[in-house]
Amino acid sequence: MKVTEAEFVQGFIRMCDDGYALGFHERNGGNASYRMKPEEVEQVKDQFSYDKEFTDIGTEVPDLAGEYFLVTGSGKYFRNVALAPEKNIAIVEIDSEGKQYRIVWGLVDGGVPTSELPSHLMNHEVKKKATNGLHRVIYHSHVPNVIALTFVLPLDDKVFTRELWEMMTECPVIFPDGIGVIPWMVPGGRDIAVESSKLMKKYDVIIWAHHGIFCSGEDFDNTFGLMHTIEKAAAILLKVLAVRPDKLQTITPDNFRHLAKDFNVDLKEEFLYEK
Ligand code: 13P
Ligand code: ZN
Repeated sequence: MKVTEAEFVQGFIRMCDDGYALGFHERNGGNASYRMKPEEVEQVKDQFSYDKEFTDIGTEVPDLAGEYFLVTGSGKYFRNVALAPEKNIAIVEIDSEGKQYRIVWGLVDGGVPTSELPSHLMNHEVKKKATNGLHRVIYHSHVPNVIALTFVLPLDDKVFTRELWEMMTECPVIFPDGIGVIPWMVPGGRDIAVESSKLMKKYDVIIWAHHGIFCSGEDFDNTFGLMHTIEKAAAILLKVLAVRPDKLQTITPDNFRHLAKDFNVDLKEEFLYEK
């Protein structure tokens, strides 16, 4: 089977395309990665070539040794992924120590995986362990309404979680564990990857102040849906803050407690503080 015809590649391409259509990816903004299943590697490995050099990841991910990832290329535009996947995305293999990677397919006109590879891989490592291997997708985007909120709300996990939960009744059901927030940092390296992966132990969603967001999920649908939901809630919150920042009414902590019971989700009391 051609790599580009495989179901997981088609799902990855569709996520990139949908994110571009919704304005999450100006220019080369954002990046995505998918931890392939062994049977997916089997499906397409006859098209891999192993003649490229191993390159340092820039961090260590020993629990991902030997795994294969589908990733977006650094500097590549999401709007081009569907038009020419083999030029804009790649499959990389992690070495036996989790210190290096090599490209085995894709980026045919040259290039390297996303500059956020350290963050993607460290987040994958944390999530693989925390979810018993269930989570496979890490998705980073430059969602405008979420970015705007990082200029007007305190950069605090509890504030972001609670304010966004209040914007749509189903938000706490979609991200019951809440949202982590990281203050502004230089992107693209190990430091921001280390800070992100610490928060990924607790949350499926991390906001990078004045930059964007990282979401983790089982598949393309629920990871994209998570990103889309949070960005929509952020857009509503900005409207509310612009029109009536003191809110005439809202969903109360007791409302959330009732919702948690009926929807069978665990909403931590730390987010249900009195204002
Ligand atoms: P890349 O093009 O290297 O993926 O970088 C885009 C980005 O969003 C950096 O945070
Ligand atoms: Zn970015």
